[in-house]
Amino acid sequence: MTGHLGSYQNEIYLQGLADQVPMFTTDGTRLEDAAQGTLEPGPFGYVAGGAGSGATVRANREAFDRWRIVPRMLTDATTRDLSTTVLGTQMPAPVMLAPVGVQSIVHPDGELATARAAAALGVPMILSTAASHTIEEVAESNGDGPRWYQLYWPNDNDVTISILSRAKAAGFTTLVLTLDTWTLAWRTADLDQAYLPFIRGVGTAIPFSDPAFRAGLEKSPEEDPQTAILKWIPTFTGTDKRWDQLPFLREHWDGPIVLKGIQHVDDARRASDAGMDGIVVSNHGGRQVDGAVASLDVLPEIAAAVGDRLAVLFDSGVRTGADIVKALALGAQAVLVGRPYAYGLALGGEAGVRHVVRSLLADLDLTLALSGHRTPAELSGDSLRRA
Ligand SMILES: Cc1cc2nc3c(=O)[nH]c(=O)nc-3n(C[C@H](O)[C@H](O)[C@H](O)COP(=O)(O)O)c2cc1C
Repeated sequence: MTGHLGSYQNEIYLQGLADQVPMFTTDGTRLEDAAQGTLEPGPFGYVAGGAGSGATVRANREAFDRWRIVPRMLTDATTRDLSTTVLGTQMPAPVMLAPVGVQSIVHPDGELATARAAAALGVPMILSTAASHTIEEVAESNGDGPRWYQLYWPNDNDVTISILSRAKAAGFTTLVLTLDTWTLAWRTADLDQAYLPFIRGVGTAIPFSDPAFRAGLEKSPEEDPQTAILKWIPTFTGTDKRWDQLPFLREHWDGPIVLKGIQHVDDARRASDAGMDGIVVSNHGGRQVDGAVASLDVLPEIAAAVGDRLAVLFDSGVRTGADIVKALALGAQAVLVGRPYAYGLALGGEAGVRHVVRSLLADLDLTLALSGHRTPAELSGDSLRRA
């Protein structure tokens, strides 16, 4: 492939000849401000907000600024190939769409629009258990696009088994188990507005459409939403688990399993000892533990400890191509992007997600090339310096 991802740049300039400019900014660091102008305060706070004072949201961004790329010259980087394979899933670049729940609060098409945009670009999407559309609807919109399923592990084994079998049947190939959100953090932006989508029955489409969940209700969620919501709360919040329960998931999922939310090197080692296939080094975009360490700051030690045994993925704070280059150089095999595409969805539905992802991939392609690399595999610690 000949730097095709960067060609979005040519497309934009050519459209400029017809007096057209992009539908919204190409700068990933400015999307939040742009989306604030579109969204109601409740949904905006839900997406942009973090835990407590927002210290970890800020720390995630600041950590990227402490690393600088050292460009190399005359490396014949004209022809590039960013494509990669993670746990058997092929992708055009080491970039995936992070699981983001309740997407219908920012756009009525929600996850369906994201699924269509992801499929059009061949970029893997990870569907959240807190989605506002069902597993089957999202799979249909995603067509033959690559897709993984993110589990919030329910307190009810029958519901867990049922959800896993639906995900498998709908073509989701890898299971991502999110560990850091077994109960909601003190999220001040949401608390100040008393705004929580789930207790309004938004973000509950997967359990509400699940036969095992419905079997525990006298009346269906359509007939009696309040009772269904009251059952949803203890099934999905206050649900912390232990390492010795992981074999249960292995028993009911025959594809790769990735643990999301790892921040300590010992937890990364335990994931490997437990026979897991990968981890996402993530602090949930600073949404769970206020004052927690920046996700990028723990990436190098974790990648050094388990990178030879586990697929090491990374998220929290990725906004630009340079951010991706830095995370890859520090040991990530691929990155997940969260808020940026949620803002794209808010600003332009399916086309908005496509614009955000194409911009990010083009920026990545050009930054990688101009710093002297032809493939992501050529990046290493030597590609960076501490600022
Ligand atoms: C609005 C919103 C909803 C999210 N919902 C989920 C979710 O349902 N499951 C999950 O594992 N992570 C969820 N996340 C966390 C993302 O998967 C990811 O870890 C995080 O957004 C990465 O940080 P970034 O937003 O700075 O890119 C959510 C994040 C946001 C912003």
